[in-house]
Amino acid sequence: VSLRPYNTFGFEAKARYFVAITSVGQLQQLLIDPRWAATPKWILGGGSNVLLTRDVDALVIRIEIKGIEIVHEDDDQVMLRVGAGENWHGFVQHCVEQGYGGVENLSLIPGTVGAAPMQNIGAYGVEIKDIFEELKAVETTTGILQTFDAETCAFGYRESVFKTTLKNQYIITSVTFRLQKKPVYNVSYGDIQKTLEEMDVSELSVRAISEAVVKIRQSKLPDPAQIGNAGSFFKNPEIPKAQFESLKTDFPTLPGYPVGKAMVKVPAGWLIEQAGWKGHRTGAVGVHDRQALVLVHHGGGTGQQIKELAAGVQASVEDKFGIRLTPEVNFV
Ligand code: EPU
Repeated sequence: VSLRPYNTFGFEAKARYFVAITSVGQLQQLLIDPRWAATPKWILGGGSNVLLTRDVDALVIRIEIKGIEIVHEDDDQVMLRVGAGENWHGFVQHCVEQGYGGVENLSLIPGTVGAAPMQNIGAYGVEIKDIFEELKAVETTTGILQTFDAETCAFGYRESVFKTTLKNQYIITSVTFRLQKKPVYNVSYGDIQKTLEEMDVSELSVRAISEAVVKIRQSKLPDPAQIGNAGSFFKNPEIPKAQFESLKTDFPTLPGYPVGKAMVKVPAGWLIEQAGWKGHRTGAVGVHDRQALVLVHHGGGTGQQIKELAAGVQASVEDKFGIRLTPEVNFV
């Protein structure tokens, strides 16, 4: 089975076996089925954060568990349990239509709801951990369904326990979010305020913020339906304050955001642009011309070519700034 329709980079790779799952029970049955016990399994959500560099010699399980249900509601809050296979932006739009606050800053992020907690998706000052209540996940070896609270998920910057100590051990089947009926808006991220002003918004609302975020993203980030990509390819590195200060003397315009007292986060996109990569193209792959943190596939290329391009970007950023970029995207 070709995985081309299932990864937003649009790379060709074959899955040895492929199955689409629409319910928890179906997933549990598959996991304890002795006929599949010896076959390695690989989970696919929206495919918006993977780089396929070769064929996948495994049973690829695509999670298509749907549904949005209210599990608790009072005057101030509503708790929604959402199937892992729901499209993330579809869920955000549902909240915007109902006037539920909390996810509007996370508009237009590609991928599925089940994949979102894996890397604690974030944008414009909000991370999924801010609205997270709990999730349900099935253990791959036993098929047993378990509940994880925020603490057990150990959320960090584009991190969770599912990317580290529990990697490949659980399959997320639903996520429960806590949303606000009397929203507290988060417009502190520079571009949002400016965009709202440009849009002539007189009164803040979840809808207005969502529209502003959509506008910003569309102006900077390539639409995977048109140009293959997986959003930010690298994480924004955190460096010691002393290193930041010393870099600042050589590069006075270097942006930085304090993280605690000792560290500073610097935008990888800035470093990559300064290293001369913005808009660069080698054959079928390249660096996006409006956001250097995004590597793009123009069509007809391979994941291996992106891997080589990424290595080139890493090497020149390290050479110029002494900072080693780490990928945010998962390599296969
Ligand atoms: N910048 C440049 N050149 C570029 C790109 C960025 O100089 O080519 C500088 C800009 O000056 C800006 C700063 O970098 O001041 C930050 O840029 P931007 O607001 O575009 O955000 P980012 O740090 O590059 C992060 C996330 C995005 C998220 C945005 C908005 C990571 C790895 N990326 O990008 O997430 O949408 O902030 O919150 O943290 C993703 O994870 O796939 C993703 C798109």
